[in-house]
Amino acid sequence: MAADNNFFVSLDIGSSKIVILLAEKSKEIEGQLKIFGHGIGPSAGVKKGLIVDSEKTSQAINAVVEKAYSSCNTKFFNVSVNISDPHLTIINRKGQVLIADSVITEKDVELALKSAKAVATSTNKQVINSVPNSFIIDKDPITHRGVEVDKPVGLEAKTLEANMHIVIASNQAVGSIEKSIRKSNLGTSMIVLNSMASSEPYLSQDEKDNGVCLVDIGSGVTNISVFTNGGITHSAIFKSAGDQITEEIAYAFNTSFDEAERLKIQYGDAQVKSLREDQLIKFKPIGGLEECYLSSHSLVEVIEQAYLDLFSLIKQNLKSKKLDRSLKSGYVLTGAGSKIQGCDELFLRSFRVRSKLGQVDTGKIDGNEMIISDPTYACALGLLLYEPDESYLEELQPDNAVGFMGKIKGSLFKF
Ligand SMILES: Nc1ncnc2c1ncn2[C@@H]1O[C@H](COP(=O)(O)OP(=O)(O)OP(=O)(O)O)[C@@H](O)[C@H]1O
Ligand SMILES: [Mg+2]
Repeated sequence: MAADNNFFVSLDIGSSKIVILLAEKSKEIEGQLKIFGHGIGPSAGVKKGLIVDSEKTSQAINAVVEKAYSSCNTKFFNVSVNISDPHLTIINRKGQVLIADSVITEKDVELALKSAKAVATSTNKQVINSVPNSFIIDKDPITHRGVEVDKPVGLEAKTLEANMHIVIASNQAVGSIEKSIRKSNLGTSMIVLNSMASSEPYLSQDEKDNGVCLVDIGSGVTNISVFTNGGITHSAIFKSAGDQITEEIAYAFNTSFDEAERLKIQYGDAQVKSLREDQLIKFKPIGGLEECYLSSHSLVEVIEQAYLDLFSLIKQNLKSKKLDRSLKSGYVLTGAGSKIQGCDELFLRSFRVRSKLGQVDTGKIDGNEMIISDPTYACALGLLLYEPDESYLEELQPDNAVGFMGKIKGSLFKF
């Protein structure tokens, strides 16, 4: 969240579009944010999630800032922004400490986190996000077994291990984001991994506990984040998304990118089997003087195959991390690339695990229905909600009936 007086501002710098949203705390519903301003416009200077020309990106941001200003008549400065550069390094790291006085203190937790975060990065890289995903007490050095807990402070233990999900970016990628924002006379309050932000409006704690993967299909990149046992355990960025689908159409029918995009949006479907009947579609081939026709069946065949190729990249990645079988809550799809008709059904057919289109939890964030229900806004909505969670530093309350056992995670005895 980027606080500016009493409101929050997010900036999604996408490969195809830029979004700004403004939100404030709801007066009626505790803990809910209400969107009161927005702006959207084409992006520029961004290739596959990476800013390659900060001057152009800044001009594109300026245009969206103007729209956001005029939508609500509110000036703002600090923004939370996304990063989805495919060259990011995303790792999980452990840090362990010995507990001096047999009861874990806040300081012990902080030391364990610090030790996990102490990644040796080269001088041209930096850690941008570090999220604790689990704490294990008294891990046996030989069997590697221990007890996983949510809130370690106040528990008796000899050792505490913190596991963190860490995002490392090149100074250049971070510098380009900050530079574009600065040139637009704005300030950067927080940079958040795109898929971590996009997860916020859509995933429930239950889904995170059961295992779930958020898939944000954009134009230049597809981002995923996996949550297991309640915490984030894996993220990845693929250089393939909606643009790739359009390029496949352009290649198959020898059309320009723009004409292929029009065909995709106007006649696209993710599954050939959903087509009731074949129809002829007028289109312009490259260099062709006369207009030609293609069959809707053959267009959807190309689209289906292109989406399946994208899904198989995700599948391979999850398989290589042995995560493909541990997602009981399945997959939640968002990003405008998921707007193709039947995207969730094709995903389900391909993965054979529960898959659905993301639906914003309006208890967390609400506002204009057009924004809330459109996956184009996934990341900008998530950036408003994202805040480093420090609830693990809270101490267990002694009167908490089941006390310590109650806070131990469901699947935690890691035997
Ligand atoms: N109805 C639709 N059917 C199919 N694809 C669609 C539809 N609407 C939008 N898209 C595709 O969604 C993509 C844009 O998605 P999105 O706005 O999430 O990307 P972005 O955030 O700008 O880019 P990225 O996240 O990759 O940096 C484009 O490829 C566009 O063709
Ligand atoms: Mg995006």
